[in-house]
Amino acid sequence: MSSSPVDATTTSAWADLTKHSEALQPDLRGWFATDPGRASRFSFEAADLYVDLSKNLLTDEVLTSLLELAEEVGVTQRRDAMLAGDHINVTEDRAVLHTALRRPAGQPLTVDGQDIDHDVQAELAKMYAFAEKVRSGEWTGVTGLPVRTIVNIGIGGSDLGPVMAYEALEPYVAEGLRARFVSNIDPTDVAQKTADLDPTTTLFIVASKTFGTLETLTNARLAREWLLRSLVAAGAIEDTEEGRRDAVAKHFVAVSTALDKVAAFGIDPANAFGFWDWVGGRYSMDSAIGTSLAITIGPDKFAELLAGFRAMDEHFATAPLAQNVPVLMGLLNVWYVNFRGAHTHAVLPYAQQLHRFAAYLQQLTMESNGKSVRWDGSPVTSDTGEVFWGEPGTNGQHAFYQLIHQGTRLIPADFIAVAQPAYPLVDTEGDGGAVAAGADVHGLFLANFFAQTKALAFGKTADEVRAEGTAEALVSARVFSGNRPTTSILAPALTPSVLGQLVALYEHITFVQGVVWGIDSFDQWGVELGKKLALEVAPAVAGDESALAAQDASTAALITKYRELRG
Ligand code: F6P
Repeated sequence: MSSSPVDATTTSAWADLTKHSEALQPDLRGWFATDPGRASRFSFEAADLYVDLSKNLLTDEVLTSLLELAEEVGVTQRRDAMLAGDHINVTEDRAVLHTALRRPAGQPLTVDGQDIDHDVQAELAKMYAFAEKVRSGEWTGVTGLPVRTIVNIGIGGSDLGPVMAYEALEPYVAEGLRARFVSNIDPTDVAQKTADLDPTTTLFIVASKTFGTLETLTNARLAREWLLRSLVAAGAIEDTEEGRRDAVAKHFVAVSTALDKVAAFGIDPANAFGFWDWVGGRYSMDSAIGTSLAITIGPDKFAELLAGFRAMDEHFATAPLAQNVPVLMGLLNVWYVNFRGAHTHAVLPYAQQLHRFAAYLQQLTMESNGKSVRWDGSPVTSDTGEVFWGEPGTNGQHAFYQLIHQGTRLIPADFIAVAQPAYPLVDTEGDGGAVAAGADVHGLFLANFFAQTKALAFGKTADEVRAEGTAEALVSARVFSGNRPTTSILAPALTPSVLGQLVALYEHITFVQGVVWGIDSFDQWGVELGKKLALEVAPAVAGDESALAAQDASTAALITKYRELRG
């Protein structure tokens, strides 16, 4: 499917949306006051998620035109092409089939002449069997001790998904097991993460789709060096080639699509878990890239995670567009970016366990949709790719919410919460005032979620401020304009399934936006130039004078200064 994208800006829906936007006087107070059905009409369910869009700058006319836009640009057709394995990643001539990682087993799906269902199930079974061996203690380190710490070495999609999910699902991690994640080539990362580890009970997973990423391979070599040095120092192995080989075989496994490079690194391909070029790095946490997770939470919980992804996939694939939550949320994002001038989008989980969710979404959304050309190589015809960012509530309330409430920028925000806390603590004492003795702290936490979305939507008028007795000179500083849009997402609990649903929701939102903009959301050529230049600059940093002379004046001066400071 390499035909040119429809130019969304030439559609009649785009013209309608432009008119709607010009005419729109946002008035969430008035809209709620005069329309008792607004909350229920704009609230939806997708798998276990309850999604309230009613506090958005959305009217029935806008929604109708957004849905027409989806029809006119062919969201449904492109979705179906993706699910069928068409090469919709045009610039890399690849299928895009992260959804195949979580399809029900036993439903053949032939892609490029290969039954990928068979391949997916076989690799999953291999990963699960390995996870069980580690969990049961059957897999041991070189001295016969069971594994206690798993260190995942990867970056980007080979790190952000696993670490986000590990933090989110921490209550499910088996006692006595833990994971750590090394990603940065700053040597501090590997140094700090290995400092207190016992090498005899540590298993490294080198996770890299390409097995050619500078950071990951450098960190893997540093980790191997640390392992061997520590084992020798502890008298756990002989300092011989055989001793070292045995140690690496028991303490290093790999996840990659490039098994030949895994072997060249010295890891036995029998201890490597594969995936495929039709899984993008940022869409890969549910492939063998999740091996650290499969070990720590166990295959059963990993299977529940996949079931959650699958439930959202099914919703995306089958729900009518007008009730299709990823479609609606993707279209709303287009509305804000292209018609209301939003440059950024906040994601604010009211769940401490989701504290890495925004970081994960930054790669998913921005590496996917930060593009200036369309999939046929022509320039984009509208703005694309807003900046995603966020921190968990309530921490953000005491940091950047000021700007969301009273700043000059429009910042649509997604509020995400679960009803059942992993740690249901009670404040037995209370504060003698608003917080009663015996207060459920999670309830207090979520009161903040609900209050913030109310404050953002409905604000506080000058008359309300005056009615509180505020001196006139201070009134304007205390006014809240309201009409600051939010989406509220509520789930029963942060189970593996709910986490899978949330991730799949944002995968599909990202997809919908990419289709409207006509871009290939599955390549990432924009990361290449910097990688190449780093390798060119490295000799200059290391002291090669001719390489230094080849740099521009600013870069040469910076490198010279660095070398001076470094001594
Ligand atoms: O540099 C960007 C990128 O290619 C991401 O797309 C990818 O997730 C990350 O690097 C890591 O790549 P790999 O898994 O091949 O090491």
